[in-house]
Amino acid sequence: MKFFLDTANVAEIKRLNELGVVDGVTTNPSIIFKEGRDFEEVIKEICAIVPGPVSAEVIGLTTEEMVSEARILAKWADNVVVKIPMTEAGLKAVRILSAEGIETNVTLIFTVAQGLLAMKAGANFISPFIGRLDDIGVDGYKLVEELRQIIDIYGFDTEIIAASIRNLEHVETVACLGSHIATIPSNLFSKLWSHPLTDQGIEAFLKDWAAFKK
Ligand code: G3P
Repeated sequence: MKFFLDTANVAEIKRLNELGVVDGVTTNPSIIFKEGRDFEEVIKEICAIVPGPVSAEVIGLTTEEMVSEARILAKWADNVVVKIPMTEAGLKAVRILSAEGIETNVTLIFTVAQGLLAMKAGANFISPFIGRLDDIGVDGYKLVEELRQIIDIYGFDTEIIAASIRNLEHVETVACLGSHIATIPSNLFSKLWSHPLTDQGIEAFLKDWAAFKK
């Protein structure tokens, strides 16, 4: 499973990218707003750091607005993927952009039907929101599992980005369910490598080594 970072914080992206396991980045208007920086400048900087796909979202709600914004975003860097919301207008935009060779990530997916429609429209990526389904007591894991089944049965090229990831269990479970990608907030990323028993183990080994060297 590929790891994307769900952030627009350039310092964090630079730091975590040095691990060599960051395969892409996702942003949305809320994430960009949090950084308080110019949208274009931030996306261009991120695209220069991470060679993989970097999602930048459109704001317009009509097909025409989405398509014209997407054409601009796609020119910012070769690895920009345009994030399009899951609406009727969005689906039409994905079809047009797909024919133009502009990569898309259909976001705010909460049902299998939405995912299937996005795949049929030609989306390169679909983003089911696991944490937000948890919030309303709906099983996001089942959604990921079924979307993956559909991709495999019908041979779609679309990749699943498990999004709205809030904890380590989300990451581990979507990996077991065959999500192609999990997009992870940078503050959660360190939880992927840490465990108290690892820290205690290192401490014990060092203590024994110090006693042995005396
Ligand atoms: O990738 C989508 C993500 O940014 C939304 O996460 O925690 O606001 O539901 P959250």
